[in-house]
Amino acid sequence: MGSVASDSTKPAAGLDVERLRRSFPTLSRMIGDERLVYLDSGASAQRVLASIEAVDRYERRHHANVHRGSHTLSGEATDAYEGARATVADHLAAADRREIVFVRNATEAINLVARAWGDANVGVGDRIVLTEMEHHSNIVPWQQLAAASGATIDWIGVDEHGELIREQLEAALAREPKLVAITHLSNVLGTLNPIAEIAAAAHDAGALILVDGAQSMPKMGVDVGELGVDFYAVTGHKAYGPTGIGALWGRLDLLREMPPFLGGGSMIRKVTRDGFSCADPPAKFEAGTPAIAQAIGMAAAIRWLDMVGMDAVLAHEREITAYALGRLAEVPGLRVYGPPPAPGRVGPVSFELDGIHPHDVAEILDRHGVAVRAGHHCAQPLMQRLGVAATARASFGVYTTATEIDALVEGLYDARAIFDAS
Ligand code: ALA
Repeated sequence: MGSVASDSTKPAAGLDVERLRRSFPTLSRMIGDERLVYLDSGASAQRVLASIEAVDRYERRHHANVHRGSHTLSGEATDAYEGARATVADHLAAADRREIVFVRNATEAINLVARAWGDANVGVGDRIVLTEMEHHSNIVPWQQLAAASGATIDWIGVDEHGELIREQLEAALAREPKLVAITHLSNVLGTLNPIAEIAAAAHDAGALILVDGAQSMPKMGVDVGELGVDFYAVTGHKAYGPTGIGALWGRLDLLREMPPFLGGGSMIRKVTRDGFSCADPPAKFEAGTPAIAQAIGMAAAIRWLDMVGMDAVLAHEREITAYALGRLAEVPGLRVYGPPPAPGRVGPVSFELDGIHPHDVAEILDRHGVAVRAGHHCAQPLMQRLGVAATARASFGVYTTATEIDALVEGLYDARAIFDAS
């Protein structure tokens, strides 16, 4: 495979990226006179044609409500929706498709666990372990739970390399928490946490573990059984599918025990004037008409990813990350946050260009057609740890090319020149 560390030679071709890019209509957009260079896939990846077409086919020919009708269209819609569930289950190597609950996004998946499992299992004096590198979606629901239940949150800090401080994790686990909630791949630093190891330690301490897989799922094969986790949250729009759809994978025994999250149609077995009884999972957690087209679109994107092959996807993501880190190291006054270049390094690259506000950097890059995100990345505790209000972030996808990284670097030189001249 291609170079790593500070070697900035262009990576060897693994995937046929140029061919694969034709499956992403948005990538042929112009931004002014410049060809779009989309380096914001960590916020939302571009939509793959296979997914757009699957949604279109469904909307044009098969749309009806699911699980409700005995007519042909309802049967087709139900088959497609349940087929989508099976696709997500297979992709995550779930033991049973009933372990997949469709939700709006990873945020809702985490809220579901915090409300349904948390309300039933967390009380005064209980402890929940979070890390400083969490997205707000894996912080705020636990803060809400702690406030409502009287539980305490223990924080695991991040060291100067963007890695978790292991001693703090060990100390937190020694306090016998109820739950560890942790990201698989940091949306800011690109830190890839050793989830299998942490899951084993959490279980030894008597805790459950929930993993935010929003950033990791599009980049690497995920086997929830091998990871040994209890809950895994994913989202469709970062995996080349639609917005408004995500999934919670949860161990079936836990989902069976958990009370429902939202009440309404579909989640019940029986309703009387005196009360209701719940359906089995996953229906228990899918009140109301679900996002049928979006689930079908998410599954189509996942099938496309599986066809490309997650090993090839990961190899490409590693190569492009290594190439980006190598090229960014050449830019004077540029500081990268997160783990140093290493063979396994994957994911977004957050950086600061000395003396230039990240929003200005992003705006100048936009003039070059280069889309990056600037801001706190919904990770304010991490920004506080890093001592910054914001960073600029380039995040990659299966379609990112070395030429696009070169365009990023050229734009950064331009930003440097503009500010040096002013
Ligand atoms: N979670 C998304 C990001 O990191 C929005 O940009």
